Amino acid sequence: MESLLSFAASHETLPESFVFPPDQRPPASSAAVSLPVIDLSRDRDEVRRAVLDAGKELGFFQVVSHGVPEQAMRDMEAACEEFFRLPMEDKAAFFSEDAGRPNRLFSSTTYGTGGERYWRDCLRLACGFPVDDDARNGWPDKPHRLREVVQRFIAPTRAVGMELLRLLCEGMGLPPDHFDGDISGGDVIVNVNHYPPCPDPARTLGLPPHCDRNLITLLLQGNVPGLQVSYHGDWINVQPVPNAFVVNFGHQLEIATNGLLKSIEHRATPNAALPRTSVATFIMPTEDCLVGPAKELVGEDNPPRYRAVTFREFMRVYKTVGARRESVEKAFKI
Ligand code: OGA
Ligand code: NI
Repeated sequence: MESLLSFAASHETLPESFVFPPDQRPPASSAAVSLPVIDLSRDRDEVRRAVLDAGKELGFFQVVSHGVPEQAMRDMEAACEEFFRLPMEDKAAFFSEDAGRPNRLFSSTTYGTGGERYWRDCLRLACGFPVDDDARNGWPDKPHRLREVVQRFIAPTRAVGMELLRLLCEGMGLPPDHFDGDISGGDVIVNVNHYPPCPDPARTLGLPPHCDRNLITLLLQGNVPGLQVSYHGDWINVQPVPNAFVVNFGHQLEIATNGLLKSIEHRATPNAALPRTSVATFIMPTEDCLVGPAKELVGEDNPPRYRAVTFREFMRVYKTVGARRESVEKAFKI
């Protein structure tokens, strides 16, 4: 449990185990590139085009007026920040290094294949959909309103993800319900990432470069910047936009669309002065779901570029090759 960054009240120096060699932490570009911000309340044809264009061009965009009540977002952020401020003994019950546990508090252990540490603690929450009492009872009971707040946040957030998938299907010529069913029917996972103030942020990373493993991700990044996205060989900062979700595609969507939509690498940097808490909601396939390129998106001139694999098999391999885009591609590309 001492491995939790939030175990200490504050940090005076950056321990060596968190230092990334300079070639593994190139600084972000100074170019002012910003992600498109798409207003989902606009005309549906316009939104469909904007989502598909941004999805193909950058693989990352932000959405506003998405229908998740502002209060549900504020409550979620507040309850999650409050969780990380709880006294250590309250958090201790939730700490686990067992990656097989659906709900747990841990530090740094998702993407490391080389034993490196990065400046993040994470509260992972899982639930089926719709959320039932069993799932809810697996979540922390402190702060006392956390369970209720998470439940009220997950349903509309998942609905935004499903609506975006529907719009993308329409734009790509797939049946609008192509991503309904098992491919989006696994547990909804919520990762609450917590990056405490860091004494030497330039020499470490909050999250190393990775692509998400799931279908689609909706990130509430709060108002402290830290997310950086790969763009033409550079890293660009994603500016916080009030009430927006940052949306990106996971490997499963890339495979299912035969590479038309790509899973783009991203990373997070910690901040010297301010703690940062972000909430990532991942829509996942069921473990048995066989994910392969949609038949509508392959043809004589466009052969399948990825092997169809069950999500379970994907995860098994993903855990061994690490999260860098290149190594995952190598494992699954034909
Ligand atoms: C993630 C992620 C980015 C952030 O949780 O997969 O990329 O800004 N988070 O916390
Ligand atoms: Ni991510």
